[in-house]
Amino acid sequence: MTNDSQTAEREGHLVGAEGAVLRADNLIAGYLPGVNILNGADLYCQPGELVGIIGPNGAGKSTLLKALFGLVKVHEGSVKLKGDDITNQRADQLVSKGIGFVPQNNNVFPSLTIEENLEMGCYQEPKRFNERFGFVTDLFPRLGERRKQRAGQLSGGERQMVAMGRALMMDPSVLLLDEPSAGLSPVLQDEVFVQTRNINRAGVSVIMVEQNARRCLQICDRGYVLDQGRNAYSGTGKDLADDPKVIELYLGTLGQQAD
Ligand SMILES: Nc1ncnc2c1ncn2[C@@H]1O[C@H](COP(=O)(O)OP(=O)(O)OP(=O)(O)O)[C@@H](O)[C@H]1O
Ligand SMILES: [Mg+2]
Repeated sequence: MTNDSQTAEREGHLVGAEGAVLRADNLIAGYLPGVNILNGADLYCQPGELVGIIGPNGAGKSTLLKALFGLVKVHEGSVKLKGDDITNQRADQLVSKGIGFVPQNNNVFPSLTIEENLEMGCYQEPKRFNERFGFVTDLFPRLGERRKQRAGQLSGGERQMVAMGRALMMDPSVLLLDEPSAGLSPVLQDEVFVQTRNINRAGVSVIMVEQNARRCLQICDRGYVLDQGRNAYSGTGKDLADDPKVIELYLGTLGQQAD
């Protein structure tokens, strides 16, 4: 992408970003001094939107979610939640301000029961447990039925429900999901996409990173293709899925697997 088109992209981005529940502008971030993984990534999510992020391995997708959630140091740029600057705030503060995060790996406590995992999700406000447990088990009835079972004994798909449920316990304004379908069988992957859409339809704004790019673009309102730490393409899920360049560069084999 040329500098001109990057500038145009950024200006377009700023127009659409007004009123966003979460937005990140020109993020430069990384794990080690002098080694930037994000090189000017932009993103926004409007209230009620389901936003997808796709891109090749190592593009910085997980790093972007971690930067939004205060787990990776942001060197330049800003993250705003409902207009308030939250750049580099601690993850536990961000949870209380309304961001939920489900990491890519190790996202449940295996030795705890389902119920205890969900309790951990609202340890900052334990009085809300009953109300939120009701919300989560309406979305995932199986978690209610098996509430006394240890998370370590569950299938991968069920563990993913526990992880999403835990993040929903604080009634987040926006939920960040890092590859919720990873490592699951095709049937369970499909279930996770349906569940993600159901969470979104229940009123939660969602930003999801996905390897299963075509499926992700099918369900999201808008999507971003991240490459080498910056936005390569963005648009509605449908426009991206139909874009010959996006298909050629990013949907090739992954897209075929998803069909
Ligand atoms: N904890 C870390 N410390 C140092 N470098 C890291 C760390 N985590 C990731 N990286 C590096 O950051 C780059 C981007 O990684 P990231 O995990 O964000 O990519 P990704 O797009 O999520 O990839 P994948 O599709 O494989 O999950 C990679 O080069 C990776 O080696
Ligand atoms: Mg990742």
